[in-house]
Amino acid sequence: MNNPDLTLAAETRSPLGAPHREPLYLRRSGTSLLIDFSTGEAAMLHFGADLGPALPDLSLLGDAVPHSALDVPVTLGLIPQASSGWRGRPGLRGHRNGQAFSARLRVVSVERSRGGRSAGEECSAAITQADPDAGVSVHTEIRINDGGLLQIRHRLDNDGAGPYSLDELAAVLPVGRAATEILDLTGRWCRESHPQRLPLHQGTWVRSGRHGRTGHDASLLLAAGTPGFGNRHGQVWAVHLGWSGNHESFVDATADGRTVMGASELLGAGEISVAANASYETPWLFAAYSAAGLDGISDAFYTWFRGRPHHPGVRSGKARPVVLNVWEAVYFDHRMPVLLDLAESAARLGVERYVLDDGWFRGRRNDQAGLGDWYVDEDLWPGGLAPLIAAVTGHGMEFGLWVEPEMVNEDSDLARAHPDWIAGPAPRPADGGAGGGPADRLPEPWRHQQVLDLVNPEAWQYIFDRLDALLSEYRISYLKWDQNRDLTEMGHAGRPSVHAQTRAVYRLLDELRLAHPDVEIESCSSGGARVDLGILERTDRIWASDCNDALERQTIQRWTGVVVPPELVGSHIGPTTSHTTARTHDLSFRAITAMFGHFGLEWDVRHLADSERTELAAAIALFKQYRPLLHSGRMVRADEPDPALRLHGVVSHDGGEALYALVSLATSFAELPGRVCLPGLLPDAAYWVEAVFPAADDRRAFLQAAPPAWLAGGVEATGRFLAESGLPMPVLNPEHGLLLAVRRVTAAEAAAPAATGGQPVRKS
Ligand code: GLA
Repeated sequence: MNNPDLTLAAETRSPLGAPHREPLYLRRSGTSLLIDFSTGEAAMLHFGADLGPALPDLSLLGDAVPHSALDVPVTLGLIPQASSGWRGRPGLRGHRNGQAFSARLRVVSVERSRGGRSAGEECSAAITQADPDAGVSVHTEIRINDGGLLQIRHRLDNDGAGPYSLDELAAVLPVGRAATEILDLTGRWCRESHPQRLPLHQGTWVRSGRHGRTGHDASLLLAAGTPGFGNRHGQVWAVHLGWSGNHESFVDATADGRTVMGASELLGAGEISVAANASYETPWLFAAYSAAGLDGISDAFYTWFRGRPHHPGVRSGKARPVVLNVWEAVYFDHRMPVLLDLAESAARLGVERYVLDDGWFRGRRNDQAGLGDWYVDEDLWPGGLAPLIAAVTGHGMEFGLWVEPEMVNEDSDLARAHPDWIAGPAPRPADGGAGGGPADRLPEPWRHQQVLDLVNPEAWQYIFDRLDALLSEYRISYLKWDQNRDLTEMGHAGRPSVHAQTRAVYRLLDELRLAHPDVEIESCSSGGARVDLGILERTDRIWASDCNDALERQTIQRWTGVVVPPELVGSHIGPTTSHTTARTHDLSFRAITAMFGHFGLEWDVRHLADSERTELAAAIALFKQYRPLLHSGRMVRADEPDPALRLHGVVSHDGGEALYALVSLATSFAELPGRVCLPGLLPDAAYWVEAVFPAADDRRAFLQAAPPAWLAGGVEATGRFLAESGLPMPVLNPEHGLLLAVRRVTAAEAAAPAATGGQPVRKS
């Protein structure tokens, strides 16, 4: 994540030789961060709205001193510390065998770099603080990216003699006093990323993830904002930790009236012992501020994602292919004729990537055996995967393959040959042990599987070699990389090892990508249990949920999408009756839902009715038509007052076009939906609005004696009218949707009514 454009400039020194440190004032894209060094410590003064081009007068920001308190104002440090009087959650906790428990970090150096839009604007810095007595120093990197997304991470160096036991090193940011409400996300399998709100009171709100993976319940975003902040209004501060292991995110409102937000890796007992002259590095904390609700937070994240050179569309230069994943079509039933038929049917429908899911490798007939034996099953596939791959690529589609490299079934050749490669609370002997001692105890199985100890270099190398061999032998363009259990009692050599395992998995992905740069990788973890910016730095999309029920997906995708842009969120049309909820949905609703993601199918499309096939092919064609817009534009979500309705859309950055979806989640309280606002367009530009899917006469989608007048032919209106007044909408049946295409009226079209004697013209 290094930004080569930034050049670090050395700090200036005063004539007396003591470093004179100007405050650090980072500004970019409407966001700013202000750090003062006058006390000798890096003190956080502000994170939030841009305070203007001139460095604020810091004397304005000096706090009062209350009674019964420290004799000087308490500093909120870049690393909040008790040595400065901070009584909130400390930024650093660690010790040397019970000693050196309280560090007093003081600034040693500040390096600044310029790279903001206006000349001379600082937007990144590196700060080193040290405590020679405690023998530790902390090196902090901070940057504000284009789009306003802030990144911060620390590295702790052990400068002393002997090991330093680290319990926590957190990245923390101040939050404005205006924030009185917290919003975060939680979930479970098949119901990921659901929001919860609570008032922000004094005290600490902590979200802990102890799954060893990110977790289905992970708070992808922890936000605090002004009362009732919404999609497009209110001030919001938000953080996300880019880490796929144990973690904590928190809001800490202290008795002195200050509020901070932050996050850290959650370390196990004795997990991190930093040897002399060694270091520990935190994951990146990502933070955003918006004065215009959650859509502004999404803008900051999306801009950052899309600015990365390895962002999938940017790296490959090609559109995200329409996927068929065979999982819900065949599960473990891998019969060649069926798989070939599916490939042919998919290709005819316009599918561009075919993914063979679980069940292709040795001994894998169900979910109880085979994980670890990453060889094509010779009984099932006497000719290997080559015949299927040839058929798939012959139809013009890419071929993708499912793997779950971090896991092992006890019923596998790998576990039988290397029982000591299974991770657990105590080291296992190479024969697996038989004495009934602690070394024989494995974690409780989960989906009949255990975790492979990838901290063990031999196990890591075996997995790398197997995957490398498969990718070298076959024409595989895509891996669906799964991870289907929590890492409970995760240990290596008798010590907690979630940290080391997570780093080992990252290295595995990094090295495979280096060896096979054209292969795309999906991060799946029993659906959406590993959605974070750490894994997304080395993968090309996430599987948001195992739930393909469109109604559930409306919420899962809507909230996953606060952070992750749609081109990275796998989103499939599932079977008519959902396999995970038994709800039945019309194809139009399933298609409209899948369209606002990385679109695909997960359905046995071999035996569709003719009408269904036609509608599905039309939906795929529609997705392809709007794909460039959907995968590059700004996400817009109306603050729709009817809880039964949702209006979201994607608007191009130049305001030239947009695609909105009006979705009904339930029956409405009113007879009519009334006028629904379409926000996010250029206020003074004229637009043509058309309903494009499903057909206006679809009796299953709509229930009304007559639709609103404009629906049949389209309508012209200004962006301001559409945002402020809105258009009367048809009456949608519950669990249905309507797609609205919007494009700016050209000057020639605008002149056309006059040219035709004032007759209305159809502008589509
Ligand atoms: C997990 C994934 C599914 C599927 C199965 C295969 O549950 O989330 O999409 O790949 O594994 O076993």
